[in-house]
Amino acid sequence: MSNTEKRRLWRDVSVFDGLHTLPEPMAVITQGGRIVSLVAMHDFVEHQAEGCDEMGRGGVMTPGLVDCHTHLVFGGSRADEFEARLEGVGYEEIARRGGGILSTVSATRDASEQALFELAKPRLEALIADGVTTVEIKSGYGLTVKDELKMLRVARRLGEALPVRVETTLLGAHAVPPEFENDSDGYIDLVCQEMIPAAAKEGLADAVDVFCEKIAFSVAQCERVFEAAEAHGLPIKAHAEQLSNLGGTAMAARHGALSADHIEYLDAAGIAAMRQAGSVAVILPGAFHTLRETQQPPISALREAGVPMAVATDANPGSSPLFMPTLMLNLVCTLFRLTPQEALAGMTAHGASALGLKGEGRIEEGARADLCVWDIDTPAALAYAVQPGRLRQRLFQGELTHA
Ligand code: NIG
Ligand code: FE
Repeated sequence: MSNTEKRRLWRDVSVFDGLHTLPEPMAVITQGGRIVSLVAMHDFVEHQAEGCDEMGRGGVMTPGLVDCHTHLVFGGSRADEFEARLEGVGYEEIARRGGGILSTVSATRDASEQALFELAKPRLEALIADGVTTVEIKSGYGLTVKDELKMLRVARRLGEALPVRVETTLLGAHAVPPEFENDSDGYIDLVCQEMIPAAAKEGLADAVDVFCEKIAFSVAQCERVFEAAEAHGLPIKAHAEQLSNLGGTAMAARHGALSADHIEYLDAAGIAAMRQAGSVAVILPGAFHTLRETQQPPISALREAGVPMAVATDANPGSSPLFMPTLMLNLVCTLFRLTPQEALAGMTAHGASALGLKGEGRIEEGARADLCVWDIDTPAALAYAVQPGRLRQRLFQGELTHA
């Protein structure tokens, strides 16, 4: 019997199913990479345990965490920029001086595919050790066709080398590269006419993203990128309304964006557009915290409008050098007053929706056996304390990868 055909049984677990905490302790059985049985303990009859490996009792079971927004592949470090910001130099000011994203671009261009792979691997291992089973990885630090494809290849290789599902996103429109300093439209031509077609042809991108901001690209330029993505059948998402309100979110929603991410400066019109399009709001408390932002994302209005909220690390060398998803659960509650249940849904079911994986990030009969068992008493405790070492077991596609 192969490892995945094994029947595995957990008893008496408190289950967060991706949207809610189930009201009673449960018994859960997996087999063949799927959850085959989810029964309240008081309905569980002993013959159901026949042929099962007993995996333990108690604790909390959640879907494997979904980190739907990361920039894990990069060269270099921005520790100097961190220090400069503490001395009062702003993120936008650093970008205007040619630092920030562009400093990572230069280090990433200089690194070989193998070097980038070796740098990114321990970062991804840190996410896995904190419960992640699905992760999105963006390009965006290459900004040439060759270097963007190099980054995407590294992301794909990471997914082959480690027990985690990697979804790749082409973020060619992340910053204006130095070669196009006074010709950002010319760079957008390159993204639309060469980069997107090349990534699509090689099957390297699962989605296309943009940075819609004064220090990056205008709404009109981002719209051109989305049109090119659509022409190649690729779904879209946007970094929007992070530092100012340009209306990028509403435009992205009109194009059916999977998600709009950051959105601290989002207004009512943007929220209405997201609601209509069914886009997910990706909340990134790590960048808010790191940049010492004070503009809060419009959480209550998103909640009232019924826009699903995902939560992610945005792990990157500049605005969020934070590689710990469960820390984000804590930050998003403390900083933005999400409930712990909302935070957990944001890193499971809604995180999956932000990647177009609708119906995933769930614990239900028939769902993928990507799940975590934690040494805690209630699901809320995962957001309450920031404490590594609580992951008792992790299953990826039915395989036990952490015990
Ligand atoms: O998600 N906002 C733009 N992009 C990244 C930051 C990348 C960087 O600073 O290197 C973000 O915050
Ligand atoms: Fe980002």
